[in-house]
Amino acid sequence: MCNNYCLNCKNVPQTSIQLTRYLFWMIKVSIITYLIIFGLLPIIFHYSYTIQKKILFLNFVQWPLNVDFSKPESIGMKGTRNFYLKTDQQVKIGLWQILPQSLLNDSTIITDDDYEAVLKNTKQPIFLYMHGNSGNRASNHRLELYKLFQNLDYHVVCFDYRGYGDSEEAELSEMGVVNDSKSVLEWLLKIVNGTAPVFVWGHSLGTGVSVHVLALLGTEKIQPSGLFLESPFNNIADELSEHPLAQIFKHLPWFHWVIVEPFYNNYLRFESDKHIKKIQCPIMILHAKDDNIIPFALGEKLFEAAINYHGNNTNQIQMTRIDASHGLGHKYICRYKDLPNIIKSFVYEAHKNQTD
Ligand SMILES: *[C@@H]1O[C@H](CO)[C@@H](O)[C@H](O)[C@H]1NC(C)=O
Ligand SMILES: *[C@@H]1O[C@H](CO)[C@@H](O)[C@H](O)[C@H]1NC(C)=O
Ligand SMILES: *[C@@H]1O[C@H](CO)[C@@H](O)[C@H](O)[C@H]1NC(C)=O
Ligand SMILES: *[C@@H]1O[C@H](CO)[C@@H](O)[C@H](O)[C@H]1NC(C)=O
Repeated sequence: MCNNYCLNCKNVPQTSIQLTRYLFWMIKVSIITYLIIFGLLPIIFHYSYTIQKKILFLNFVQWPLNVDFSKPESIGMKGTRNFYLKTDQQVKIGLWQILPQSLLNDSTIITDDDYEAVLKNTKQPIFLYMHGNSGNRASNHRLELYKLFQNLDYHVVCFDYRGYGDSEEAELSEMGVVNDSKSVLEWLLKIVNGTAPVFVWGHSLGTGVSVHVLALLGTEKIQPSGLFLESPFNNIADELSEHPLAQIFKHLPWFHWVIVEPFYNNYLRFESDKHIKKIQCPIMILHAKDDNIIPFALGEKLFEAAINYHGNNTNQIQMTRIDASHGLGHKYICRYKDLPNIIKSFVYEAHKNQTD
């Protein structure tokens, strides 16, 4: 008994000392963790252009892994040729050309020249797809959309920007991916030479790319027949502030200086709300209300910017708002049951107005 009692007597103060030490240790660890997460990491981020680019472009996120781009058939893309183009900046870009449904059984289309002749002679719409960040032209949700176009009997051309897929590892920047895409669109428009309507489809970061490309071409009075913007944002500054991941940092007084300003100063801006002023072709914005990567409100802001420039009483700028109940989020508007009809009537109207 006595022993036990004495043991307990000794233990009580000892335990409380341990507890106090433990508490101090915990506080120290918490402060250090806090300083690292909210101080050191943001400062590293602020000064590292490399990290900013990696976060924005996510091109190191390669999914699917080890795709053999030269065998699109092996991942279910029928009637598809793999080929490469050199842009005017001498960057080698990997592309696919996907045939419409009605040409799938045409056994005379084999060589690159055959495929190019198809683009030259067709009257069917051609969709040029500009993908978002991460992955490559073989990512699953992208394949789903190509197949939807194919089933509508449209042609598709898709490609990887520099640093993505099997395209060349050139320096990534906004102007870099914009120049690559502009080159591809110019190549396509030159081949088609007005015989068929060409539409550009941008998704996510690809909306920033496509709007910028069409604005540059707009100053040269060159435009495609129309532009689709799937899950777009108005500019990178707002996207950075509204991204769900930013919400834990947003309360910090240095958030703007540390996170938002460097992107702007390093010309990673993607200011679609400014560029859209120079676009002359009809635009269809598609956004799901349950998008948790690019909030719906940013698509709405882009729409408002567009109608501020182009007016509200024309059909030039339209927006399809998709209810959250469909559960389509950021990547799966391609599964929206009304989408085929929305695309078809937009294509019909755009083409009709052009030939009127
Ligand atoms: C192409 O051929 C397959 C099988 O030979 C057939 O099932 C399909 O209906 C054909 N498609 C077209 C568009 O002719
Ligand atoms: C993009 O193209 C423009 C015009 O051709 C050129 O001046 C600029 O250097 C290019 N930028 C990049 C990063 O390729
Ligand atoms: C492109 O179209 C124009 C006008 O229709 C025509 O004059 C020209 O010859 C065409 N170019 C080629 C390479 O077919
Ligand atoms: C544009 O017009 C529609 C329909 O008339 C209206 O509901 C909407 O509020 C208008 N938007 C703006 C920004 O004026």
